[in-house]
Amino acid sequence: MTKIVAVISGKGGVGKTTIVSNIAAALSKAGKHVLVIDGNVSGPNLATHLGVPETHPVTLNDVIKNEAYILHAIYQHPVGFKVIPASMAELEAELGGLEKHLSRLIGVYDLILIDSAPGVNDEVRAAVEASDEVVLVTTPELPSVQNAKMAADFVRKLGKEVAGVIVNMHRGEKHELKPHDIESVLNARVLGVVKEHGKVRGAISKGIPVYLVDPYIKPSREIRKIAYLLLEENPPKESFTEKLISLLKTEVHVHLR
Ligand SMILES: Nc1ncnc2c1ncn2[C@@H]1O[C@H](COP(=O)(O)OP(=O)(O)O)[C@@H](O)[C@H]1O
Ligand SMILES: [Mg+2]
Repeated sequence: MTKIVAVISGKGGVGKTTIVSNIAAALSKAGKHVLVIDGNVSGPNLATHLGVPETHPVTLNDVIKNEAYILHAIYQHPVGFKVIPASMAELEAELGGLEKHLSRLIGVYDLILIDSAPGVNDEVRAAVEASDEVVLVTTPELPSVQNAKMAADFVRKLGKEVAGVIVNMHRGEKHELKPHDIESVLNARVLGVVKEHGKVRGAISKGIPVYLVDPYIKPSREIRKIAYLLLEENPPKESFTEKLISLLKTEVHVHLR
């Protein structure tokens, strides 16, 4: 069964593309068939996060304009998952009709993720309409959650379900909203809380999802957990060595007096 999930947010810069790229990496490493689509045609950067060469000939824009068949827009990432990039040269593009094109891919993939534009607009509407369910990404800051609430209301008005919320860039600071507060504001369950980590930014600057750089740091492990929640499957059990590496990677906070 193929599940199509739109990953949206109220605000930009909260980590949608980062989360989408790393879910694809984590599941692909485990042998799942995953396709990620850059549904942010007004500000595409999924290809940059994933190191897709700018020379990739066919984009989502060509597909939407009915100038190319969706199969020809698919880029094969070396790790195994597939990517449909959007054009960097055409920022006025529309996304309507995506649903019709995606219907040709049902059954091929376990999961199709649409990396959406932020906010509530026609571009986001198209991504939501093309999906089976919607996942919201927010940071634990109040303005981000407030805007996520607008996005959740928008999704529900379109008759779609908010399957869950991913809280990203958690720093553990006092002012941050707690997961249960976020759940009650958004009326949706938190699928996971991803910590802020310098390695995430470092990996993006090289066009590699952090999961492929280090699958054992906390953000990678949390994203793997979220990925299996989306698939509604239990993650495979970790080996003793994997558990040990994760334990060794856990930051130990020593309070000196
Ligand atoms: N967990 C994280 N830890 C550190 N930096 C992060 C994390 N998630 C995202 N970022 C950084 O935040 C910025 C915005 O992320 P991005 O995924 O592009 O957001 P969006 O797609 O929602 O606009 C990127 O520069 C990325 O490096
Ligand atoms: Mg993005």
